[in-house]
Amino acid sequence: MPPLTRQERDERFLSRAVDLAAEALGRTSPNPMVGAVIVKDDDTIGEGYHAAAGEPHAERMALASCREDPAGATMYVSLEPCAHEGRTPPCVEAILEAGIARVVVASDDPTGKASGRAFGILRDEGVRVEMGGNGSAQAARILNQPFRKHARVGRPLVILKSAMTLDGKVATSGGDSKWISGEESRARGHRWRATVDAVAAGIGTALTDDPMLTAWMLDEQGGAARRVIFDSEARLPVSSQLVRTAAEAPVTLICGRAASRPGILALEAAGVEVIMVAGENEGARLRSALDELGARDVQSVLLEGGPHLAGAFFDAGEVDEVRAFVAPIVAGGRSARPPVEGQGVEAVGEAPRALSTDVERIGEDVLITARLKEW
Ligand SMILES: NC(=O)c1ccc[n+]([C@@H]2O[C@H](COP(=O)([O-])OP(=O)(O)OC[C@H]3O[C@@H](n4cnc5c(N)ncnc54)[C@H](OP(=O)(O)O)[C@@H]3O)[C@@H](O)[C@H]2O)c1
Repeated sequence: MPPLTRQERDERFLSRAVDLAAEALGRTSPNPMVGAVIVKDDDTIGEGYHAAAGEPHAERMALASCREDPAGATMYVSLEPCAHEGRTPPCVEAILEAGIARVVVASDDPTGKASGRAFGILRDEGVRVEMGGNGSAQAARILNQPFRKHARVGRPLVILKSAMTLDGKVATSGGDSKWISGEESRARGHRWRATVDAVAAGIGTALTDDPMLTAWMLDEQGGAARRVIFDSEARLPVSSQLVRTAAEAPVTLICGRAASRPGILALEAAGVEVIMVAGENEGARLRSALDELGARDVQSVLLEGGPHLAGAFFDAGEVDEVRAFVAPIVAGGRSARPPVEGQGVEAVGEAPRALSTDVERIGEDVLITARLKEW
């Protein structure tokens, strides 16, 4: 076999850095996931990743793990190193102190305080800085979609999850939806809850299903995702499972000006955070709610329906990814509900089209993941 070219070697180490970054899935928010590999004479001498917000950054972890002097080595890092003082000192300092000769980066950091600063500083000090190839760059960007969207527009990434029948229904004409997808699919959905900052649903779903929206296995380090209910009139009963578990995982209720004062006070007394949003229509109120969540460092939202709220999110152009379980059953029924209602589009050409899709078989179901936007 011919020896690998330098580009191929770079791609291999960068891809390892991205895999390392992914080890901390669900634990780094509001920070990005980052991995780093240090290589000398084609040998990996150190590796590390950012394990959780407040913990050392990947570059420092990798340097600390080096089994020989990293002076003159190449550092592969999945995200542009930081040049600013945050909870931890800037990584460019550590890179310079260690005498790293070359830094290869998979993706840029779109936050205002970063965006290219590290590259300038490192180059000024004589370090060679290069951007990696397309494969690892794409993987690194996909990994940090919540961080990237939040950095760009201040709102969280929205992932719509639904479980539908073969004929595209998420509830029967009688309103029953338990359970459309199989046990393995539901377990997968629960695991997603542990990887996002918030899980959201509309008051229709909260009243019909009385869900808890928590993960079965809560991630000890990441903590429980915030549960967010869109409920304009603050009708969520204090006796609901959501409110009764408010001490275990935070509950945020998004309401409008029409909400009753006693309703809000009762929910607040039960430990629910109530955010009142204004706006002339559902879309405007929704965007304002996402702005409020973004301001609280919520970078990702798993939207679990129902159809009315999902439609409003689509109409507002705020769905970034769809994860749809399709189960091999047929519900039929004119009034059975589809996953997305709202206004919708008039012409097929206006329909949001996925940039990429993945299909996976889970038990008897099929999971379709469609990325509609890339940040
Ligand atoms: N299979 C699945 O994957 C799945 C998932 C979830 C739900 N479901 C099923 O779907 C049904 C419930 O869905 P649904 O459509 O009736 O209710 P929903 O979408 O859960 O909630 C809709 C309600 O949310 C409130 N809301 C607050 N802010 C809003 C905004 N900005 N935009 C839009 N709505 C806003 C509105 O009521 P107010 O104006 O009163 O606030 C609206 O009526 C149930 O049968 C449930 O079992 C199935």
